[in-house]
Amino acid sequence: MSKEIVVSGIRSTGHLHLGNYFGAIQNYVKMQDAYDCYFFVADYHSLTTHPDPKALKPSVFRVLAENIASGLDPEKVALYAQSDVPEIPELYLMLNMLAYKGELEKVPTFKDKVRLHPENVNAGLLTYPVLMAADILIHRAVKVPVGKDQEQHLEMARNFAERFNSRYGEFFPEPQVFRFNSETVKIMSLDGTGKMSKSENVNATIYLSDTDEDIRKKIMKAKTDQGPAEPNAAMPDYIQNLFVLMSVTSGPETIARFTDAYNSCNIRYGDMKKQLAEDMVAFVAPIRDHAAEQQRDEATLRKILKTGAEKARESAAVTIAGARKLIGINYY
Ligand code: ADP
Ligand code: TRP
Repeated sequence: MSKEIVVSGIRSTGHLHLGNYFGAIQNYVKMQDAYDCYFFVADYHSLTTHPDPKALKPSVFRVLAENIASGLDPEKVALYAQSDVPEIPELYLMLNMLAYKGELEKVPTFKDKVRLHPENVNAGLLTYPVLMAADILIHRAVKVPVGKDQEQHLEMARNFAERFNSRYGEFFPEPQVFRFNSETVKIMSLDGTGKMSKSENVNATIYLSDTDEDIRKKIMKAKTDQGPAEPNAAMPDYIQNLFVLMSVTSGPETIARFTDAYNSCNIRYGDMKKQLAEDMVAFVAPIRDHAAEQQRDEATLRKILKTGAEKARESAAVTIAGARKLIGINYY
């Protein structure tokens, strides 16, 4: 039986962090054996907000290296750059005729960008969800592992697929968000002000490229308080976040010890942070070192990109041929 098709992308907008790792990459790694996976660096998407030409290539190679260092195997999955697959912009153009200005203007991520950068409200930003739909539909994917913030974009991709199908004939399956557990992990920033991010909250975000010292410093500065006033109290979200981080990096005994301490009002956050910092260093260091090694070997990364693009284009060409035929672009 053929495997189900999976697509996901990460924008090349900077250094990857624990949110990207636990929200996305960890799932990619877990999916690579059981599914037919297409994972890519969304470099065109990054142009909507980060147009510095000098930063683009290092950023693309970094995302690639950090994905590989996290366990993605380019032999098992197609790992490529979005801009290496010209069929994607072709499908994007076709889908643009099925996307309406009104619905695009209502997308919360678009509205956020307009608020943050009123001087740069470009059409690429408006049609961001259309390009993302093209990324997914180009392989006729059914599963898309992404964080919670991407659910609305997925819903739009389903709408565009459905509109195409009803106008031209059944062709695209409707892609669904995929996650292993019912809850998506959301990693908050260590100062409790938002999520860990490539471009915001940088001093309270742990990056896969952080040095051991950076990691220790950031964790020791994480927001805490006086501790719970009564046994078994509900946790404030910034404390909960430390336990989330502990649950993904420390052993079960450590987690149980600090959970018991919290529940019996004996928790010492200084001790908890020290422990978490050491466990986090042990977790991040091998990924960081492996990624740095990968990044130094540009020839291998280029080869991976090339092979990935070939695999992706093979699948994309079949979709484009089918879509052109259904639309009536069928002249020779
Ligand atoms: P960023 O917002 O840091 O620029 P992207 O938008 O490129 O990251 O997101 C890439 C993937 O990482 C998406 O699937 C997104 O849902 C996930 N992700 C990003 N930040 C977090 C976070 N703090 N916690 C969990 N998942 C996240
Ligand atoms: N919009 C996604 C993000 O910001 C990145 C992305 C672009 C993507 N195209 C995609 C994710 C296709 C999944 C599938 O995280």
